[in-house]
Amino acid sequence: MSINYSEKIPNNVDLANDRKLQRALEHWQPHFLDWWREQGPNDFASDEVYLRTAIGVDAQGWASYGHVKMPDYRWGIFLAEPVADRTIGFGDHFGEPVWQQVPGELRSQFRRIIVTQGDTEPASVEQQHLLGLTCPSLYDLRNLFQVNVEEGRHLWAMVYLLHAYFGRDGREEAEALLGRHSGDADNPRILGTFNEPISDWLSFFMFTYFTDRDGKFQLKSLAESGFDPLARTCRFMLTEEAHHMFVGETGVGRIVKRTLEVMKELATDDPAAIRAHGAIDLQTIQRYLNFWFTSSLDLFGSEVSSNSASSFANGIKGRPDESQYEDHVCADATYDLETPGGIESVNLRNAMNEVMRSSYVKDCEIGIKRWNMQIKRAGYETPLRLPSSRFHRAIGSWSNMPVDPDGNIMDRDAYERQLVEWLPSESDQAFVHSLMHRVTEPGKMAGWIAPPDRGINKLPVDYEYVRSH
Ligand SMILES: [Fe+2]
Ligand SMILES: [Fe+2]
Repeated sequence: MSINYSEKIPNNVDLANDRKLQRALEHWQPHFLDWWREQGPNDFASDEVYLRTAIGVDAQGWASYGHVKMPDYRWGIFLAEPVADRTIGFGDHFGEPVWQQVPGELRSQFRRIIVTQGDTEPASVEQQHLLGLTCPSLYDLRNLFQVNVEEGRHLWAMVYLLHAYFGRDGREEAEALLGRHSGDADNPRILGTFNEPISDWLSFFMFTYFTDRDGKFQLKSLAESGFDPLARTCRFMLTEEAHHMFVGETGVGRIVKRTLEVMKELATDDPAAIRAHGAIDLQTIQRYLNFWFTSSLDLFGSEVSSNSASSFANGIKGRPDESQYEDHVCADATYDLETPGGIESVNLRNAMNEVMRSSYVKDCEIGIKRWNMQIKRAGYETPLRLPSSRFHRAIGSWSNMPVDPDGNIMDRDAYERQLVEWLPSESDQAFVHSLMHRVTEPGKMAGWIAPPDRGINKLPVDYEYVRSH
C-alpha cells in the first residue's frame, strides 16, 4: 500500500490501472490548482515552506519533511489500509460485510454527506487566505500553511470518492466544490461557520481548536461507515487532522502564557493595562472562545434529526468510536434531551447529532483544562470555560433563545444588553486586529504570543521554517 509519487497524482489506490478515473482526476487537477492560486495563500506562492508530505499510510513514519513551494505540494489520494473481513459496525446492516460500492438506494445520501464534508475543506483555506500577511512568527506561518495544504488534500480525498463512485453527478459536484466560496453572497459554502471570516490569529487558533475538532468528530463518525472506501479515506484524514488541533491548542495556550507574563510583569489583571502592554486579556480570549465554540456546536445539526437517524440506520454514518458502545443497533433505545420546554425523551437514533455533540464537548474540555492549569499556576482565579451548549445557538431547540453562558433562560432585553460581555465586540475585534503585525525574523515572536516549547520535527524554534524570495 505504498504511495506512488511517480504519477501526476500521488496515490495508493492504483490509479494507473483505472485510466478513465485517472483521466477524470487529471482533468480536475488544473482546476484545483487555479482555485489554490486564486483562493489560497497566494501572496506566498514563491516561498519555500517546511512542510510535511504523506509518504505512507502507516501510523509510524508516514510523513516526510522538507522545503516546498506550496503550489508544488504533492496533493494526492491516500486511503488507510483495508481491514480484512471488516463488517458494518452499526445500524440495520450491523454485522454484514462492508460495501466496496455505494448501494444504489443510498447514493444520494452518501453523496450529500461527502459533498458537505468536502465543502468544509477548501472553505477553511479561503477563510484563512490573508492570515499569512500578519503571522506572529515563521513557526506559526509554517503551521498555517501546513494546515492549508492538508485541507487542500482533504478536498482531494472527497473529490476522489465523488469521481470514483458517483459517476457524472460526482464529477459535477467536484467542480461545484471549487465554485462555492467562503462568505460569497451568491454562492457561499454550505455550512455557516465556514462562511465566517478568519482575519486574525486569535480566531485562527480558536478555529483550529474548536472547528477542526468538529472535523475530527465528523471524520470519526464517517470512519465507521459501511461504505469502506469512505471509512478508509476518513481514517487517514484523521492522522493529518490531529496536527490542526495541536496548532489550535498550543496557539491559544501560548497566547494565554504571554498574557499571564504581562499580568505578572505589571502586577495587574486589569484588561485595559494588559491591552496597553500589547497582550490579549483573558476576558477577550474567553469571548472569542465563546463565539467559536458555540458556532462549532451548530455544525452538528439539530438535536432531533430524522436525517441522522436514517444515516445511522442505513450504515452511512456511525457514532465516533462506535466500539465504545454496547448497543450498535439502537432500535428501541431512547435519549433524554434537555429542551427549553423540559426533558424530552426521543428515539436514540433521532438523537445521534446530540450524542456526537456531547462527545465533542467532552473533548473540548481537555484543552481548557490545560490552559487553566497555566492560569492557576500563575496564581489567578479567572479560569477560561466552555459556555453552556444552550448559549448563542443558531440551530436546534435552543436557537435564538435568550440564554446566558451558564445555560439559564433570561429576559430578552437584558440578554441583548449583556451579549457584548460574552461575545467579541467590534472594539474587541479592532483591538485584536491592531496587534496583528507580520513577524518574519526566525525565532522572533509577536508580543502577544509566547514562543512554542519546541519546533517542528525536532528542529529548533528559530529554524527558518519559511524562506521567502
Ligand atoms: Fe480537513
Ligand atoms: Fe483540519
